[in-house]
Amino acid sequence: MKKRLAILLSLLLIGMLILSGCAGTEQKRIVRIGHNQSSTHPTHIALLEFQDYINEHLGDKYVVEVYPSELLGSQTDMVQLTQTGAIDYCVASNAILETFSKDYEIFNLPYLFASKESYHNVMDDEDVTEDIFESTEQAGFVAVTWLDAGTRNFYTVKKAIEKPADLKGLKIRVQQSPTNIEMMKLLGGSATPMGFGEVYTALQSNIIDGAENNELALTDNGHGDVCKYYSYDMHQMVPDILIGNIAFIEKLTEEEKEIFQKGYELVNNVQRSEWVKAVEKAKEKATNEQKVQFIYPDQMPFVEACRPLHEKVLSRNEALKPIYQKIQQYNQKYPSQAE
Ligand code: GCU
Repeated sequence: MKKRLAILLSLLLIGMLILSGCAGTEQKRIVRIGHNQSSTHPTHIALLEFQDYINEHLGDKYVVEVYPSELLGSQTDMVQLTQTGAIDYCVASNAILETFSKDYEIFNLPYLFASKESYHNVMDDEDVTEDIFESTEQAGFVAVTWLDAGTRNFYTVKKAIEKPADLKGLKIRVQQSPTNIEMMKLLGGSATPMGFGEVYTALQSNIIDGAENNELALTDNGHGDVCKYYSYDMHQMVPDILIGNIAFIEKLTEEEKEIFQKGYELVNNVQRSEWVKAVEKAKEKATNEQKVQFIYPDQMPFVEACRPLHEKVLSRNEALKPIYQKIQQYNQKYPSQAE
């Protein structure tokens, strides 16, 4: 019921947004950005900086509005709104984008990056990301920058996950991506795909036994109120991606494009530095207030179980092979600190 009401309100809001167009602010073009995080999340903080930056440099022509907390719908809804130009930008998990372009599968692979440094260097390397970021042009949008979403780990209501066998028989929420479903299969759990906004209620009502995400999901989204075991198996580092409607971006003048480009870089920088602080705070809160127990299992059995997925994804999309090789070079340069 609550969900239906939320969808209805979102649709109403979207309808109003479409109808409002440029109204109210006379000549100014409203630039709408949606995301699914709270208004204290690093992503929201970074997008507010973008809003200020654009307003400061192009305020006579554009007004940026940022909509947090799935106000404009789930991530999948928001990607579709960005495709059609009903909104101009949104933040989508790389996992979701896999259904719009197969090339995004690469960054959804479990244990793809040997370390955080390797992950960040890969994502900063345009030789790696450029083609992937442009691969959705036909679908009506492109990626303009990436955001940190940390490492994804399992957390459960009743039972600590120490090894893959502990996942057997457990219903674990995963993001709506085929690679994530395949990953869960290999690890032995029962994958339950659903949107981020539905996870809290599903945990609380025992529809699922656990989920997998970064530490902020425990605090920001309250999952740590229900789940008391968080296991650092570190299975994925899945970036979030800021995508923009291609028609909107192409219509910008060269000078405006440069300013927007600086704005995207600002989003990336601010979000990444806020991220480090936010994770520390989340761990502290989860430990002290929510009484979540952090577990550090041996990662090797998880790594071994997931390995076949690399070969599978590369053989069904040969174009990813050179990118995968490049990532291996970064992995050698920035190896795991655990080794
Ligand atoms: C993280 C990520 C989001 C994603 C969410 C999820 O919070 O930053 O982009 O939607 O995980 O698991 O769905």
